[in-house]
Amino acid sequence: MQSAFAPKASSLSLLLLFVALVPPSSPAQARPVPNPQLASKEVNARTESLLKKMTLEEKIGQLVQYSAGFATGPAASNLTYDDLVAKGQVGSMLNVVGAEKTNHYQHIAMEKSRLHIPILFGLDVIHGDHTTFPIPLAVAASWDPQAAETVARSGAVEARADGIDWVFSPMVDIARDPRWGRIVESNGEDPYLSSVMARAWVKGYQQGDLSKLDSVAACVKHFAAYGAAIAGRDYNATDMSEQTLRQVYLPPYHAAVEAGVATVMSSFNSINGIPATANPLILTQILRREWGFDGLVVSDWGAVGELKNHSIGDGPTVARKSLEAGVDMDMEGNLFGTTISSQVRSGKIPESVVDEAARRILRVKFALGLFDHPYTDSSPVYEATPERRAVARKVADETIVLLKNDPVEGVGALLPLTAKAKKIALIGPLADDARDLLGAWSAGDPKNVITLKQELTDRLGDRLTYAVGCGALAGEDEKILERVTFGGSVAGSSPQAAADDEKSIAEAVEIARQSDVAILALGEPANWMEGEASSRVHLGFTGNQEKLLEAVVATGKPVILVVLAGRPLELKWAAEHVSAILEAWSPGIEAGPSVADVLFGDVNPSGKLPSSFPRAVGQEPLYYAQLPTGRPAHVDLTHMPTNSEEKFVSRYVDEQNSALFPFGWGLSYTRFSYAKPTLSRTEIPLQEVLADRGAVTTVSIDVTNTGRVAGTEVVQLYIRNTEASVEQPVRELKGFARVELAPGETKHLTFPLGFDELSFYNVDVKRTVEPTTYDVWVGGSSLADQKTDLKIVE
Ligand code: BGC
Repeated sequence: MQSAFAPKASSLSLLLLFVALVPPSSPAQARPVPNPQLASKEVNARTESLLKKMTLEEKIGQLVQYSAGFATGPAASNLTYDDLVAKGQVGSMLNVVGAEKTNHYQHIAMEKSRLHIPILFGLDVIHGDHTTFPIPLAVAASWDPQAAETVARSGAVEARADGIDWVFSPMVDIARDPRWGRIVESNGEDPYLSSVMARAWVKGYQQGDLSKLDSVAACVKHFAAYGAAIAGRDYNATDMSEQTLRQVYLPPYHAAVEAGVATVMSSFNSINGIPATANPLILTQILRREWGFDGLVVSDWGAVGELKNHSIGDGPTVARKSLEAGVDMDMEGNLFGTTISSQVRSGKIPESVVDEAARRILRVKFALGLFDHPYTDSSPVYEATPERRAVARKVADETIVLLKNDPVEGVGALLPLTAKAKKIALIGPLADDARDLLGAWSAGDPKNVITLKQELTDRLGDRLTYAVGCGALAGEDEKILERVTFGGSVAGSSPQAAADDEKSIAEAVEIARQSDVAILALGEPANWMEGEASSRVHLGFTGNQEKLLEAVVATGKPVILVVLAGRPLELKWAAEHVSAILEAWSPGIEAGPSVADVLFGDVNPSGKLPSSFPRAVGQEPLYYAQLPTGRPAHVDLTHMPTNSEEKFVSRYVDEQNSALFPFGWGLSYTRFSYAKPTLSRTEIPLQEVLADRGAVTTVSIDVTNTGRVAGTEVVQLYIRNTEASVEQPVRELKGFARVELAPGETKHLTFPLGFDELSFYNVDVKRTVEPTTYDVWVGGSSLADQKTDLKIVE
C-alpha cells in the first residue's frame, strides 16, 4: 500500500475515493470512541428536528464565530454584532467574558433570532482562569495527571461563572524546539506523557458529562503538528513523514478524542504542503473516520482567510476547501459567512456539506444543555480565597524541578535552605514581577500573585535583603515592549526595563557580599517573550541577567538560581558555575509560596523535565527519542559521542550532543535506588501481541528511598525496539508512575506492555509489531540504566 500522503486528496470526492481504497487498518487504528453524549439519541433527534427548520442562511450562521471582545489575533472584526445575532448569522463568539456581556448577546439570540438558537461562548482558559496555575509546560513537569485535571476543573468552574461554555484547551502539540514560544502551552516533547496529560485535561474540563452546569466543552488544539514548525518559527510550515506524524505528533490529539473531547481546533501550519485548515486527510480521514470524532472543528483565528496566503485559492475557493476538508466553524475569518451561501446556490458546494457542519455544531450546543440553560447567573466577584490558593499552591509545588544541588565546599548542599543561612539576598528582575510570574496566556489578575519577594519577606523578615539587579529586558529587547500588546496586556506596563543596569548590578553585588547566600530569580519575561508569536533564536536569559548572574557568582558567595521561564533556556554557564538550580517555570498566583516551599524543604521537589534542556541553541530541535545514526553504532543517550577523538561520527565539533538536563530529569532532597527490572514473561509469540488484547507482559521494579527524608519519585519506563523494519528511536517513554516513599521504604511497581506500547508504524504506515527484541529500562529519567530484554518471537 502507498503512503496515505501520496494521493493529493484536495477535494472531498477524491478523499472519499481514497478512503474507500484504504484496506482495513490494524486493530489499534480502528477504535473509534465517539463522545457518547454527542452521539446520543436525544441529542441527535433534537439536532435533526432543528436542522429541518433552518434556512440555508441560518445553517451558515451557525458556522460563524466572531471575537466580540478583545483580540487574540490580527485584524479583529469590528461589526455590529447585535444585529448579526438577531438575524441568526452568528453561531459562536469568543473573548466575550462575564455574565453581563454574554447574557446580553444570549438574550438577543434567544429572544430575537427566528429559531432561538443559543450562542456558544469560547475563551482561552489555558492554565486556570482567575485562579492562575503554573503554565501547562510546568503542569506537565509534575508528571501528575491529577494535577492537570485539577487545573482544568478549576478553570472550568470559573469560566462557566463568567458565561463561558467552551475553552480553547488543552494544547497538546508536541514541542521539540524551544525556539517556538508556544512550547509554554504544551506538554513538551513526548507523545506518551502528552497523551496522558491530554486525557486528564479533557476529563477536568468535561467531567465525562458536558451537560453538568460546571462543565465546559474542551477544545484540543492545534490540529495538527503545529509544534513542528520548521526552525521553531511560529506559523511556519511543517514537513515530516507520515510515520512520524502518526507515531509522534498525533497520539496526544487522539488521546483527547478518546477521552471524549467535544471540539478540535485546526492549526495554522501546513503539513507536507497542505494547510491543516484545508486538509481532508487530517480533518476527515484521520479525525473523523479513523478516530470516530463526532464533535465540531473550529479553525484557528483567521486561519480560513489566511489560506489565501498559502496560495490555494481566492476567498470563496479557500472557504470551500476548508469546509469540505472538515472545518465546521470559521473563527474570525469572515469567509464562511460571506462566501458559502452563493456557492451552495450555484451548486458548487452540496448543501449536505453545510448541513453536516451545522449538525456538528448544534450537537455540541445540545450536549452542553445550552438550549435548556442559555444564560449565566450574574458573575460572582472572583476572590482568591485561601481554599483556591491552597489548590494552586499544591499543583505549583509539584511542578518545580530541582535541576542541580551539588555540595558547596564547607557548606554542603545549599538546598533545602537551613537556619545556617542567616542573611539571604534575593536578586533579580523576576523576583517581584507579578505579571510575569502568572505566565503567558493568563487571565489572572497580577494583584492576586504572591511574588517571591513578598513571600520571602514574610518568612525571613530582616534576614532578607532584595535588589532587582537589572531589567529583564535591555537595549534591543525593549523594542519588544512597543510591539507586544498581546493577551490584554498593556505595552510598557512592565517594570522590566531597568533604567541603569550597571548601577543595579553593582547594588545587587553589594547585597550579595553582605549575605550568606544569594537567591537569583532570573528567566525571561513571560508577557513579552513567551507564547504565541514569540519565537526566539537566542535561548539565554534576556537583557543583562546573565551579566548579573556572573557578577554575583564572582563574589564567591553561594548562589541558588531560580529559573522562571516558559521554555527550556540555555543554562550552560549557570550549570557550570552555580551549585543549586531550581526550574520554577511561570508558577501562577502562588509563585512565591511554592518556590519558598521547595527552597526551605517544606516540600521535597518531585518535578521532572518534560523537555530536554540544551547546552546550546544550535542543538535544537533536541529531544531524547532520537533515531539512531550509522556513526557510531549503538548510540545511546548515555553514550553520545561527545568530544570524541573520532572524526567521522554524528556530533558537533564545538559542543556535546547530549542535553544539559535531559528529558525526565529532576532531583530530590532524598535519593532513590532502582533494582533490576524483571518481566512476567520474557518471550511472547507475535500473534499474541497482534491480537491486541491488552498487556502481554508486565515490567516489575523495586524502588527504594535510600535517603533520610520522605520523597516522591517519578518512576519512568523506556523501551527501544532494536530490530524494527522502520528505524525506531533510541528510547521511548512507555509508562510512568509517581510514587511516595518514606525514608528506607521500598515499593514494588508494575507497568503493562502490550500492543499499544510495543507497536510502531511500518513502511506501509500501518501500526504493527514484528519479531524483535526490546531493550526495557526503568529509572528516574531518560538516562535510566537498569535494563532487561523482551523478545517477540514468530
Ligand atoms: C491561537 C489559539 C487561540 C485563538 C483564540 C489564536 O491566535 O492560535 O490558540 O485559541 O487565537 O484566541
